[in-house]
Amino acid sequence: MITFPNKIAVGSAHSKLILIGEHSVVYGKPAIALPFPTLHVESIVEGISKSMIMFDCRYYVGLLDQVPNNLAGIAACIKETLKYLEQPAKGLKIRIHSSIPIGRGLGSSAASAIAIVKSLYKYFEQNLTKDTLMELVEVAETYAHGNPSGIDMAAASSDHSIWFEKDQEVKHLHIDTPFHLVVVDTGRIGNTREAVGAIRETFKIAPKMISQSIDLLGQLAHQAKAALVEGETKQLGNIMNAAQTELVKLGVSDKGIDQLVDIARKAGALGAKLTGGGRGGCIIALAKDLNHVKQLEEAFLAGEASQTWHFTAGESPS
Ligand code: MEV
Repeated sequence: MITFPNKIAVGSAHSKLILIGEHSVVYGKPAIALPFPTLHVESIVEGISKSMIMFDCRYYVGLLDQVPNNLAGIAACIKETLKYLEQPAKGLKIRIHSSIPIGRGLGSSAASAIAIVKSLYKYFEQNLTKDTLMELVEVAETYAHGNPSGIDMAAASSDHSIWFEKDQEVKHLHIDTPFHLVVVDTGRIGNTREAVGAIRETFKIAPKMISQSIDLLGQLAHQAKAALVEGETKQLGNIMNAAQTELVKLGVSDKGIDQLVDIARKAGALGAKLTGGGRGGCIIALAKDLNHVKQLEEAFLAGEASQTWHFTAGESPS
């Protein structure tokens, strides 16, 4: 391999929010996800004259070959990317700077993998197609989620709101009437792999109950799409509340999430639900307008929330 000491290439990606359809999307139902550019990640690849790859992120600094288990998917993704690029696994330092908290249902693992693959392709000055990007990111996602639907990587690599169905072409969803969400962090790490696995296990003993909720979540995704197209924000809130009811039945909410949802409703949110895998992580609350965003944020921070972000969906370019 030709090494280029001091040569640097940067790749970036943003966070995502699932508006509706988490978990049911694993069972082939549609879901709606939004890019969440407030939180993002950068991967910086640098040439070093050493016969190894160094990795540097919030949780680990050292040899790529010795990363802890929670980074095994990222390490596998890096190695697979170098294989695709026909480059040996050495002579590189990869640094990750991320503002996306991990395990909060905000797509941290997908966004990191996207940024890394992009930075490696840039470093070796090769064109990267969307299909190749998705193939390589899926390596990391499979470690993180077991059997991911692909929604996280589709949303974290999209500049637009998306209508997502497993194994189908991702569709851009136009949002003409902007709406305001407050993203609220429980401060607790959720384990998507475990949450997905728990539903699968319950399905074995109570297939009817699980199927009913999954089917209903699928219908709610269609209703949410119609509400977005028609600019029916109130209706969207009702749909979010109905989705949360089903997610509770599926067993992926928890006490902390329920408390935040309760705060949201008492503070007048049009709707509130968990976002992502659940069992920890974040909720999203739909505000009446921009002034209401502030009130909601105050209510959350006075309650159980560890942090909040405001996000307006439907503004250019989404
Ligand atoms: C995680 O962000 C979304 C889930 O539906 C899992 C998946 O789709 O792979 C819970």
